[in-house]
Amino acid sequence: MRYRARLVDRTLVIVKPDGVERRLCGEILGRLEAKGLTLAAAELRTITVEVAERHYAEHAERPFFGDLVAFITRSPALVTVVEGPENTWKIVRTLMGTTNPQEAAPGTIRGDLAIELTENLIHGSDSPESAAREIALFFPELD
Ligand code: RTP
Ligand code: MG
Repeated sequence: MRYRARLVDRTLVIVKPDGVERRLCGEILGRLEAKGLTLAAAELRTITVEVAERHYAEHAERPFFGDLVAFITRSPALVTVVEGPENTWKIVRTLMGTTNPQEAAPGTIRGDLAIELTENLIHGSDSPESAAREIALFFPELD
């Protein structure tokens, strides 16, 4: 894991198992870096079921919850913290594209590189509160 000086804002970004399996880590993180965002921490790790269930707790009652946890834990993911200006989480979400890759705009990561709702390559925190909660969950050693 590597650290860099903190900028204004941070958000959690995960290249999901499908992204690692498809060898798209460089492509995906390259897009974030080319935009002007900076990696603050990064680790390739197999997410545990316990952490996955906490991460996706908001979806616990959804019928797809079990499949979602199985997917995100099935093989290593590249878990990162990304730094940038105010509302970095929103910049990342814009670059990601909408949840369903079939509706995601061309030019976005999901729009260009994915086709399945359940294999949509990248996670990004969806609010400042989510970013703080998720960074603390995955990188408790960061302040
Ligand atoms: P994520 O949390 O993974 O970054 O994705 P998101 O914010 O764009 O979407 P969210 O609503 O949080 O949903 C989390 C993930 O659940 C999967 N999903 N499956 N089978 C289904 O109906 C269904 N609906 C959502 C998606 O892969 C989504 O990324
Ligand atoms: Mg989400």
